[in-house]
Amino acid sequence: MANVIFCGFGDGMDKRVQARTGDVLLRVAESNGVKIPTECKDGTCGSCAVKIEDLSVEETMNPTTEDYDAHAQSYYMEDKELETLVEMAAITKKEAEVAQQFNRQTPVRLACQCIVRSDIIVKPFE
Ligand code: FES
Repeated sequence: MANVIFCGFGDGMDKRVQARTGDVLLRVAESNGVKIPTECKDGTCGSCAVKIEDLSVEETMNPTTEDYDAHAQSYYMEDKELETLVEMAAITKKEAEVAQQFNRQTPVRLACQCIVRSDIIVKPFE
């Protein structure tokens, strides 16, 4: 199980829920009454982009270091999601390359493509 904390959605109240590891973030949001905008639900439109903060790693850690490896979960992100995020300028090409090379999660994800693997904070992407 993982804790997912939604901040700044809907009425602005924080909502903390439990999710099974392996659940799709969008499904976790919908089943708990958190509204995240969607269109395609296939990782191509970018409507469901959200900011993700992984509570298992320190914000200051460099994703290319062994120290980071010791804390971070391994995240495989599909090329389609990374391309969509780069196209909409939500992440840089460099962030996409690091995510691919080191199996890391980018700071912005598509909720319809994001698999919950650890405790996270989720905020709207504006
Ligand atoms: Fe279109 Fe998620 S709903 S990318």
